Amino acid sequence: MSTTVVRECLGDQPRILSGVQPSGKLHLGNYFGAIKQHIERQDAAECFYFIADYHAVTSLKEAEERELAIAAKTKGMVPRPARQILADNVRDVALDYLALGLDPSKVSFFRQSDVPEVCELTWFFSTVFGMAHLERAHSYKDKVARGIAASVGLFAYPVLMAADILIYRSHLVPVGKDQEQHLEMTRDIAGAFNHAYGEIFPLPDAVYNEAAVVPGTDGQKMSKSYGNTIEIFAEGKALQKAVMGVVTDSTPVDAPKNPDTCNAFALYRLFATASEQAELADMYKNPMKDADGRSGRPFGYGDAKAMLLAKIDAYFAAARERRKKLARDPGYVEEVLSAGPPKSRCSWFDRPSACRRGRCEACKAAKRLCEPPHFLSHLNRPFAGADISRRPEIAAIWRADSFRRRFRS
Ligand code: TRP
Repeated sequence: MSTTVVRECLGDQPRILSGVQPSGKLHLGNYFGAIKQHIERQDAAECFYFIADYHAVTSLKEAEERELAIAAKTKGMVPRPARQILADNVRDVALDYLALGLDPSKVSFFRQSDVPEVCELTWFFSTVFGMAHLERAHSYKDKVARGIAASVGLFAYPVLMAADILIYRSHLVPVGKDQEQHLEMTRDIAGAFNHAYGEIFPLPDAVYNEAAVVPGTDGQKMSKSYGNTIEIFAEGKALQKAVMGVVTDSTPVDAPKNPDTCNAFALYRLFATASEQAELADMYKNPMKDADGRSGRPFGYGDAKAMLLAKIDAYFAAARERRKKLARDPGYVEEVLSAGPPKSRCSWFDRPSACRRGRCEACKAAKRLCEPPHFLSHLNRPFAGADISRRPEIAAIWRADSFRRRFRS
């Protein structure tokens, strides 16, 4: 279903949703691939953004092992247990988004595991989606090749992602290009489910950012797993080291250089205006231009990197200050995240048939909106937690054992 059709059928604003996995420090690839557009859209539409902590558990064991290995080589470092790593990563991502301009009064900003119903929907989806689809998933194959244990959870990752998106009947999903296959699977899952049980879920569209592929310091796609990132909130020496480490070719310093094949130039473009880009391209092609200003030295890659560094510094200066300020208030993040879910829940539970296009033939004939199939209708109660709280004996067990307790301290 195209975006326009979705808009028409809703007669309403499209709902935008995206998730971000809390798996470490966010970098320029995350920023230009996804975060920037998430934040820009908050004024234009109803937005749901969540921190995908259930997804992060698929690689948490590896994160813990990585930390153990680093701690073994680092004097005085105490390795954190898995749950602490996850709790810290969730907090870090939340602070990053808030510092970069996400406004929690405009957006439903929440933690995935605060809506445990997504796991239930994942189960239903897993009954209509073929194994063969999941076996083709690049992300699964890549992760297993990198040594992450091939668990059922890792394998079913795309099904949980489909539930994240479809449970709120989202229409637009702004993500990096690396999520393309996951979005295709989400549409396939929605289609398979609708086919089996009636038109319930609108088919969401992915929205990619132009600059979605950000080169890393080595020229491959910027990614934590390649160790080629420049972190958004790095500063001082650490930032300088990352930027100066951008790999460039061996063209002699006084020879003309090609901006189109240069990583430093590709990164600079993300921050610079068209005329600044043209100016830098000119320096690449004419390295002796304005050499007087450099005591006669030709313009080299080091100069380009220094310009890049200055751009990054200026671009994120205000966000860095904001982040430090927000981090000083220990309760702030929790307050924001725990205020997020009820609103998101309401949308799903109060408007189960929001997509008017989602009508099966029987409902169309009866001139009414489709109802979810009966086995899903129990998801329409206010929310699962409310029921449990009326059963103190169950509530006690649930609280004691809950995922949330375990991974949030
Ligand atoms: N898989 C996404 C990533 O790694 C994170 C994610 C989880 C997500 N659920 C989602 C993104 C739903 C968009 C929509 O970036």
